[in-house]
This record gives sequence, structure tokens and C-alpha cells, in this order.
Amino acid sequence: MFEEAQYFSPVNEDEHGRVTVRLARDHPGFADPAYRERRDLIAGLAVGHRRGDPLPEVAYTEEEQEVWRLVSAELASRHRRYAAQEFLDAKDRLKLPADRVPQLQEVSDLLEPLTGFRYLPAAGLVPLREFYGSLADGLFHSTQYLRHHSMPLYTPEPDVVHEVIGHANALASDRFAALYRTAGEAARRVESRQALEFVSRVFWFTLEFGVLLEGGELKAYGAGILSSYGEIEEFRAMDVLPLDIRAMGLTDYDITKYQTVLFRAESLSHLEDVAGGFWETCDDDSIAALGV
Ligand SMILES: [Fe+2]
Repeated sequence: MFEEAQYFSPVNEDEHGRVTVRLARDHPGFADPAYRERRDLIAGLAVGHRRGDPLPEVAYTEEEQEVWRLVSAELASRHRRYAAQEFLDAKDRLKLPADRVPQLQEVSDLLEPLTGFRYLPAAGLVPLREFYGSLADGLFHSTQYLRHHSMPLYTPEPDVVHEVIGHANALASDRFAALYRTAGEAARRVESRQALEFVSRVFWFTLEFGVLLEGGELKAYGAGILSSYGEIEEFRAMDVLPLDIRAMGLTDYDITKYQTVLFRAESLSHLEDVAGGFWETCDDDSIAALGV
């Protein structure tokens, strides 16, 4: 469970500025030289991007467009059944294209008038403090590559499907966007590495993998579930614990293995009170007092 969209392939830049993405041996694209070349090229665009410049455009291939079309359609039918209403309403507001991969600039232009969030390109993993801290400024770092076409419904890494279908749709909600910002402010406020990791784990178990009750039914609002074809079908069969800051902040997640535990809010307001309330006020001392 929750194997998808967690692990970032390392990105290297050599002394000549050549950017290489190191795919793991079991990555679906590992043995495909054309895919690997594509990954290097797309990562290179983000590495070369400077803040304030227009966001890099990727000339997506027909094969990549087909992956987007297929995954968008498969996820849309599952969203109707399993996504929280706030996410569905936000998705209706954002109106992402389902027939082609949107450019990050386009995602930004759709999102900014709604909640003020803008996208930035990421080649791969962005350091924790930068990734979360930028949320306080309404900036979201996003990869631009697609999963390998041989397995369109699976990705071991957060690709543009995860970043945009999972996160941008959520960020089109005023209430979720406010939570993302508050998490970002908390990441900026805390100083120790442990406190930062605690803040990021609360984010992980809420805005990435959170579920909530709606009309007596368990619905997903976390971007990691809502962008994952396999997990969206299975989240209701997992161990679901009540929302608890200390438990979330102290539960280690192994990014390369299945997640087996989820945390459930009783409602969106409950999530705002508990997670939002925590991020609003937490600091190194209050987190240390939780037993970190
Ligand atoms: Fe994510």
C-alpha cells in the first residue's frame, strides 16, 4: 500500500552542466534509453530555471499525452466515488485539461486567481525546508516528467500527474490552500531538524495521505491518494487511526515501502482545528514537549 509517488530519483549535474537522472534498477523506465534521455532533458530544464524567469515548457510527446489522458480519465471516475467534496469542488474550479498535459505555467495561471498559489519547476527532490517553507509564500515545487508509458497507472515517483492532479486540484480550494500555507509557515518557524521532520510528517499524513469522514463515509483528500490509481481503491481497507498530532509526527514513513496506517479527520473543520491549529502555533519547544 502507498508504494507510489514517494521516492525521488537522484538528479546529478556534472561539471559541464550535464544533468542525469539516476533511475533505480526496478524503475519501469530503467531499461528504456529513450525514456532516460527524456528524463535527463526534463530535469535539465528545471535545473536551468532561475526564479522569476518564465517556467520551462516541456514539448510533451504523443506517448506522454496519452499517459496523461488515460490516467486523468481513470482517476476522474475514482475521484467521483472516493474524493472529499472540497477536493471535487476545487477540481471543478480549476478545470485542468484532461486531454493533454498542462504546462506548469498554465497550472500557475489557473491557480493564482483562485488561491494565490503558483508553481515552480523541480528536477527531483527539493530539500525539506525549501519545499515546505515555499508553501508559506504560495509556491509549490513540481516535477514535470511523466511516469513510464509501459505502466501508466503506476509510478514509483511523484510525477507531473501527482503534482498537478493531486496537489493543484487541492490547492484550488481556499481551505486546503490555507492549510498548505500554514504548514509552510510552521516549516519556516521551527529550527531543529527534528522539529522540521515532525512538521513534515504531519503534512505527510494529512495533505499527502489524509482521509476524512463525510456523511459517514471515508473519503480521501490527500494528494498522494487522489493521484494514485492503485491506492485510491484500497485506502478504505487500511488501518485508519483517529487524527492525532503526536502520533502522526512520530510515525515514521518509509518512502520506499507500503504505508499501512492512515489518519482520519472527523470532518474538514476537524482537520483545520487539529492540523491547522498545530501548524499555526508549533515551535521547537512545543514539538519537543510532544516527546520528539
Ligand atoms: Fe506530494
